[in-house]
Amino acid sequence: MSDWSAIEALPSPKLVELFDQDGERLSKFSLDVAGIHFDWSKTHLTTQAVEAFAALAQAQDLAGKRDAMFGGEHVNVTEDRPVLHAAERGEGDAESVALARKLHERMRSLIDAIEGGALGDIRHVLHIGIGGSALGPHLLVDALGREDARYDVAIVSNVDGVALEDAIKDFDPAATLLVVASKTFTTKETMLNAESALQWMTEHGVEDPYGKVIALTAAPDKAMEWGVDETRILPFGEGVGGRYSLWSSIGFPAAIALGWGAFEELLEGAAEMDRHFRLTALHENAPVLAAFADLYYTQVRHAETRAPFAYDERLRLLPSYLQQLEMESNGKGVKTDGTPVGRPTAAITWGGVGTDAQHAVFQLLHQGTHLVPVEFIAVIEPGDTLAEDHHRQLLVNAFAQGAALMKGKQVEDPARSYSGDRPSSTLLLDVLDPRTLGALIAFYEHRVFVNGVLLGINSFDQFGVELGKEMAKAADQGGQSFDPSTEDLIRRAGLE
Ligand code: F6P
Repeated sequence: MSDWSAIEALPSPKLVELFDQDGERLSKFSLDVAGIHFDWSKTHLTTQAVEAFAALAQAQDLAGKRDAMFGGEHVNVTEDRPVLHAAERGEGDAESVALARKLHERMRSLIDAIEGGALGDIRHVLHIGIGGSALGPHLLVDALGREDARYDVAIVSNVDGVALEDAIKDFDPAATLLVVASKTFTTKETMLNAESALQWMTEHGVEDPYGKVIALTAAPDKAMEWGVDETRILPFGEGVGGRYSLWSSIGFPAAIALGWGAFEELLEGAAEMDRHFRLTALHENAPVLAAFADLYYTQVRHAETRAPFAYDERLRLLPSYLQQLEMESNGKGVKTDGTPVGRPTAAITWGGVGTDAQHAVFQLLHQGTHLVPVEFIAVIEPGDTLAEDHHRQLLVNAFAQGAALMKGKQVEDPARSYSGDRPSSTLLLDVLDPRTLGALIAFYEHRVFVNGVLLGINSFDQFGVELGKEMAKAADQGGQSFDPSTEDLIRRAGLE
């Protein structure tokens, strides 16, 4: 029997029965790491399932591949690169860690200089980037920068000029630091937004707009060619993937807005999760167990989507951050050796914010025909200081939803009945601080890695985004033939 057939043959017990049969279920399927309580007891994971997945993990050499990643080997085989985001947090091979430290030191010095007035009076940070060069820093600043941010930070990604206009409308151009974040420094959307931002500064009388530009990139030569002074380029290594890059200089807006101490705590929290992932047995390993549950639902129960819901306004950007992390990493059809995977890969990640989502999409989760593993992310310590008990309502709703999904309710009227047996997991953070957020994000990164290894795919390339970029360029340049529908659309919009 192949390893996957052992998994496909796993039974599909009912959640309530699993609790009835095993008084120890909660303690078996929950654990605490780095200030986060993980509870998978309301998923269909069983000891038997964990054993079957552990056997598959062994057959796929998960431990060897994990050590190869931390050891700086070229595990991103299609791009022949190491995978170095853990080295940014001090966990990895000595050479990569030393380089990351040196580059962090450079970032810290530049932040100190800016705070000391080296670039004049700076009050606003306009960060321009897209994908991994925007989603991570945006999440950090939005989650942690509500109270104590030392600068107004705006993150602009969309090439739609409305986004840039919105961001700068309340900014004083003379007091704005323009941060151009692009690993490649060639991304069309980012370069166009950066040029328009420079023009806005020039039009408003800023004498040396280039003097207020910081570049965050793995291609410092390109940033210099574009006009950024070498002293204001903050490089990071080629081995740090875009969607894994918030730990590098791409995290600059968070580091300057929240302070260097907060940024270091973020890295330390992630490093704690790295060590947990590296050193803990599979059946007690949070990213590993989460990936086993993901795979149970995609492979055994054929779930096509999964839905994280942040029951905390400060984490409202987490679902979109996870969309890129999970779908760009594991939305693949071939294995590392180029052969078809032959089974479903990444679930479609979607989700939202509780309690809003309860009044919009939870109908489908409770009574619809799709099986959607739900993930609740909540924080014990409130983010608000209101006298009324908002936070209590937030948390009771999160927990009640999980209970309702599992238990269901049978009444005579089918329209008012709930099948129940719908899985959810809960991640309960003690507090939302840089350290815990760092651990949380690192948890998701490693979970994606485990999913990728068990499926035999490379989670670190993203060739699927290239064709659309090429065709947009062709459409922009004109003179190329497309299908009749696309040509008609180009003509109607007056783009030919
Ligand atoms: O198009 C996808 C992508 O390459 C992402 O992986 C990346 O995060 C984003 O574009 C931005 O790329 P860059 O940082 O090179 O501008």
